[in-house]
Amino acid sequence: MDRLSIHGGVPLQGEVEISGAKNAALPILCAALLTADPLRLHNVPDLKDIATALRLLKQLGVESARDNAQRVEICAQTVSSLEAPYDLVKTMRASILVLGPLLARFGEARVSLPGGCAIGQRPVDQHISGLEALGAEISIEHGYVIAKAKRLRGAVIRTDMVTVTGTENLMMAATLAEGTTVLENAAREPEVVDLANLLIKMGARITGHGSDRIVIEGVPALHGAEHTVIADRIEAGSFLCAVAATGGEIRLTHVAPDTMGATLSKLAQAGLTLALGSDWITAQMKRRPKAVDVRTHEYPGFATDMQAQVMALNTLAEGTGIVVETIFENRFMHVQELIRLGADIEIDGHTAVVRGVVGLSGATVMATDLRASASLVIAGLAASGQTVVERIYHLDRGYSHMERKLSQLGAQIERLTA
Ligand code: UD1
Repeated sequence: MDRLSIHGGVPLQGEVEISGAKNAALPILCAALLTADPLRLHNVPDLKDIATALRLLKQLGVESARDNAQRVEICAQTVSSLEAPYDLVKTMRASILVLGPLLARFGEARVSLPGGCAIGQRPVDQHISGLEALGAEISIEHGYVIAKAKRLRGAVIRTDMVTVTGTENLMMAATLAEGTTVLENAAREPEVVDLANLLIKMGARITGHGSDRIVIEGVPALHGAEHTVIADRIEAGSFLCAVAATGGEIRLTHVAPDTMGATLSKLAQAGLTLALGSDWITAQMKRRPKAVDVRTHEYPGFATDMQAQVMALNTLAEGTGIVVETIFENRFMHVQELIRLGADIEIDGHTAVVRGVVGLSGATVMATDLRASASLVIAGLAASGQTVVERIYHLDRGYSHMERKLSQLGAQIERLTA
């Protein structure tokens, strides 16, 4: 298993290009199932979850080709299987995103239940009840969600909580339903908006995306389209936390600052000096960070996917930061590892109290999930001496060549392949 070795304490300097958003690209690839025509996609990030999604789609019979320039051409003209098997779904929960499109276009789908995951229970009950509201008959057999419907019918659906992939699954399914669907309490994440924009290019009739009420008028068929995936706001935010922790000055390019409001304002509070353009950000840190309080929330609130990285920053800050996780019940697994690096953190339920220390000291730590891995890398970049981050397959799921990008910024980081 690959590990990362980091010799910390080097301020980051230079320019880095931000990749396309994983969480936008995944549903967008699944949207290919909605049409027999090809989709031509740009800015698809080169990372493991995307490879997993393409593998899953290939098993369904979907053809795709990708080049080195983050372009993917994908076509679901002939779909030979309607089943997403357990061995793929268990490695990537977002595989559930094939359920809505398969059901809407082919009237049937079998998707393995994802099971638990490191950061919490994460059920898919809202996906299921939403599809039932659209007229699907759904049963759970042998660990699989089995869904059938002749043609889905539009309905008003109000999910019990805001769910990102739930909104995406239901929105995709509704594009081919008969009549109008209203999704209330919908997720407003920029990735949902990007998916809606692609679907509209494919001929879907969608309004209200970006608000909590999305209206979809079903159409009989969708067609091919060309689309550029939006920038990854979490990758960008992670690099900003890194420079805030190490000091230095970096410039991010190919980024979408307008999707990053909550992160940018917290980092400004922490003392990061920011300048923004339409697709770039420069960030300079000359001082010790100031502790910030964060409470995770659905977009446009502070993203749960940025919680671990800001926590890493707080470990080094002047003062005490209170971090409250409201979205997932078990998303503090990085805490024990940060403590191994010398952090002073106390957890009480969903709240972590982080008392800043003057310096962290390198150690061997273990990555437990995707964003936790990023927080350990950030802490390692700021710690004195060597930090080894084990199990970085988690990091590889969602960050495109992170060590290469950090090396480009002057970090002393290398991948050790076992
Ligand atoms: C997506 C993101 C993930 C991010 C999360 C929250 C993708 C591929 N992943 O995950 O990076 O951390 O949003 O911003 O886009 N829930 C239920 N029942 C359901 C669905 C959700 O109880 O049917 C709960 C979840 O357990 C969680 C909350 O709702 O507590 C939000 O989850 P959700 O928005 O669905 O997360 P994902 O879409 O899986």
